[in-house]
Amino acid sequence: MAAVCMGEGIHWVGALNPNMRIFDVVMKTDNGTSYNAYLVRGQDKTALIDTCHGAFYDAFIENIRQVCPVDSIDYIIMNHCEPDHSGALARLLEACPGAKLLATQAGALYLKNITNREDLPIQRVKDGEEIDLGGKTLRFIAAPFLHWPDSMFTYCPQARTAFTCDFLGSHYCEPYMRDSDIAYPGAYQRAFKLYFDAIFGPFLPYVRAGLGKLKALDVDTVCPSHGPVLHRGCQLENAMEAYAQWSAEQKRGQLFVPIFYCSAYGNTARLAQAIAGGIRQALPDADVQCLDINDNDGARLAAAINTCDAFAIGTPTINADAVAPVWQLLAQVDAIHARKKPVLAFGSYGWSGEAVGNICARLSGLKCAVFGEGLKVCFVPSEQDIQRAGETGYAFGQAIAAGK
Ligand code: FEO
Repeated sequence: MAAVCMGEGIHWVGALNPNMRIFDVVMKTDNGTSYNAYLVRGQDKTALIDTCHGAFYDAFIENIRQVCPVDSIDYIIMNHCEPDHSGALARLLEACPGAKLLATQAGALYLKNITNREDLPIQRVKDGEEIDLGGKTLRFIAAPFLHWPDSMFTYCPQARTAFTCDFLGSHYCEPYMRDSDIAYPGAYQRAFKLYFDAIFGPFLPYVRAGLGKLKALDVDTVCPSHGPVLHRGCQLENAMEAYAQWSAEQKRGQLFVPIFYCSAYGNTARLAQAIAGGIRQALPDADVQCLDINDNDGARLAAAINTCDAFAIGTPTINADAVAPVWQLLAQVDAIHARKKPVLAFGSYGWSGEAVGNICARLSGLKCAVFGEGLKVCFVPSEQDIQRAGETGYAFGQAIAAGK
């Protein structure tokens, strides 16, 4: 797609990737994506905001050429350095050797390793700092963890336009760049929510902070780095309201402590019930649920493990390890939110019982607060084992209460 004028002196010069179906290995996209980059031209200077994925360099550079000579770019502003925005940077710098790179302190560090150049012409910018393009200024606004430590917004007050990189973006691709031209609004809304959940779900307090900074500006247009540009009176208000709702603090009156388990012959299931009884004794007001992993929907389990206050997880040992459904559930754990979360591992085994230790190691790697060494029982739990499981649950419940 050719360059698009988005307002006086502002052009979209990105590239479309309508065929992308998986982003960043983990995120499915039904509608492809766009890698948005913007040229902002003042009377004296020209700035390019973000670059694009390295595989789309040719389309990107052609769009720049439609607006201005590539070597006339004075500043390349890197709002965020993930390779979908920085992949074309090393080649671009060869085409405009006089350009100065502007990035946050964290961004400057990343860019050296992304380009493998120690001599990058980087100027580190601070929150609130501005550059003058002549009749237009660009102000940099720190936006850490939206969604990397390096992230920032760039704001042009004269154009009432904020360039927010991934924030308010979407993996959505139509051959238009304005929200008013979206042909399939339902598909766009789904893509917008999916993108929020996948990219910003782990960073909700930072989303609230970023929204606050954006609301404090006089903004009519938001130019994100993926998907349509958002305008006041069209999608912008809806998009900001959606972010506000999705990032709002959830106040739950009750502690939620699920007990996930797999059980081949009912032994680990009996331990789960005994542990649940102990937790309920220690935390009588808590919502304590035993969830057989094989009997529950994967999305429900993933939501439970990521929104709970603490959890226990049980597995038999088969062939010296935990069973696959348990590992699959643990692969869904959001490592950002799992830090310091109280967790307990347990399980019945026959020969050697490695599974509980292996799970504890995984949970420790996620920086959870792992409760002791877990609970292991050989074959069928005896009455004493059931009593021990109940006592372990009770002690775990007390530890949860002590941490609250
Ligand atoms: Fe679109 Fe975080 O990169």
